[in-house]
Amino acid sequence: MLDHHHLEYRDKLRAFCEETIAPLAATLDHEQRFPSEHMGPLTAMGLLGCLVPEEYGGTPVDTISYCIAVEELARVCGSTAIIIAAHNSLGTFPIVRFGSEEQKRRFLPRATAGELIAFGLSEPDAGSDAGGTRTTARLTGDTWTINGSKCWITSGPQAFAVNATARASTDPENKDITTFVLERDWAGYDIGKKENKLGLRGSDTSFLHFDDLKCPDENRLGEVGMGFKQMLITLDGGRISIGAMALGLAQGSLEVALKYATEREQFGKPIASFQGIAHKLADMATELEAARLLVYEAARMKDAGLPFSRHSAMCKLYASEVGHRVCEIAFSVLGGVGYETGPYPVERNWRDVKLCEIGEGTSEIQRLVISRDLIRELSGSTRETTAEEPSIKAREAAKARN
Ligand code: CAA
Repeated sequence: MLDHHHLEYRDKLRAFCEETIAPLAATLDHEQRFPSEHMGPLTAMGLLGCLVPEEYGGTPVDTISYCIAVEELARVCGSTAIIIAAHNSLGTFPIVRFGSEEQKRRFLPRATAGELIAFGLSEPDAGSDAGGTRTTARLTGDTWTINGSKCWITSGPQAFAVNATARASTDPENKDITTFVLERDWAGYDIGKKENKLGLRGSDTSFLHFDDLKCPDENRLGEVGMGFKQMLITLDGGRISIGAMALGLAQGSLEVALKYATEREQFGKPIASFQGIAHKLADMATELEAARLLVYEAARMKDAGLPFSRHSAMCKLYASEVGHRVCEIAFSVLGGVGYETGPYPVERNWRDVKLCEIGEGTSEIQRLVISRDLIRELSGSTRETTAEEPSIKAREAAKARN
């Protein structure tokens, strides 16, 4: 599935991540500190514009390459991986896909030059039921007044803008939900306190509160009433990157467990020579490879212009559950030292990977999406496709750069 461009891209990213991202990973986690010093190098590597066309400052790559980038970041630092995945998939993508030419020219060059953009869908009473949005938007003249709160905003404290949904009326069927690009320096845009999380502690997550926020109509993304579908389409892409993140965290843990098992001696032999440990290593590697194939297949389908909603849910579901298992088995290979914070990153990866089963839709929601799609197919009914334009242009541009 990977060609030599992908392999070269992986080598380049791995070297960058080892040299620049890995040395700070444990500190970010311990200190719950956002990696400001990483933003320059990440921008220079083109990682803030993976899905943005070149004319808006992007460094577009195909979706498999994008997965490789998220995977390599997560292999050494889950926090940096989620910052990049959320920015690309949930921050820039909706503007690329649903924005006007004027909006693309206003927001995307900033986003690709190093400023983060966030995604505001969840609310205290609208989590899995993402259509339960209570944030309101009232139009007077050509200005909307936005009131409400969004929660679990990745990079909420850092983002210069957020793609946020709000109800433009009181339609009970969610046909009024509309997306707006809300800007941080407007009066009435308040950043809530940083959440104290189990994992991904170098990535800031916060509430955003909108209190009589005045938003010009020119910041409305697409048509009134299309916001819910836009966000579901956005999540179809984002879920692939969460699958990739789970792969990277699991890969990092597998590598640590493998090295440890060949060096640690008990009963006069490396513990890898005991079948109990060797089989664990084999199971970790096999499950991880199966998950990787599913993630890359969803990415390939997206790039081929095929409907990929079901596969995106499948790959996120499977890769995040495999990621969790692999990170947990790494614990049992390392025993007591794995449980200590510091010497080995397996406990950090185990805490970080849990988010992959929750963020951008829980595993229960992925099963719902998959089963609904199976039933829809059986009944012969169709839905507006979530297929993308084949991203051949991005691929050609990436090849030309390599
Ligand atoms: N693509 C395009 N259209 C879609 C779609 C998709 N993938 N999925 C559904 N739709 C359409 C449906 O066809 C339907 O259209 P019509 O009204 O024209 O018939 C409409 O959208 C509504 O769909 P449903 O009836 O299926 O909606 P629902 O209310 O039953 O909910 C759901 C569907 C799958 C449960 C959805 O609410 C969901 O995915 N929930 C999870 C939300 C989630 O992942 N949240 C995490 C956000 S991440 C975050 O907030 C943190 C951060 O910073 C990263």
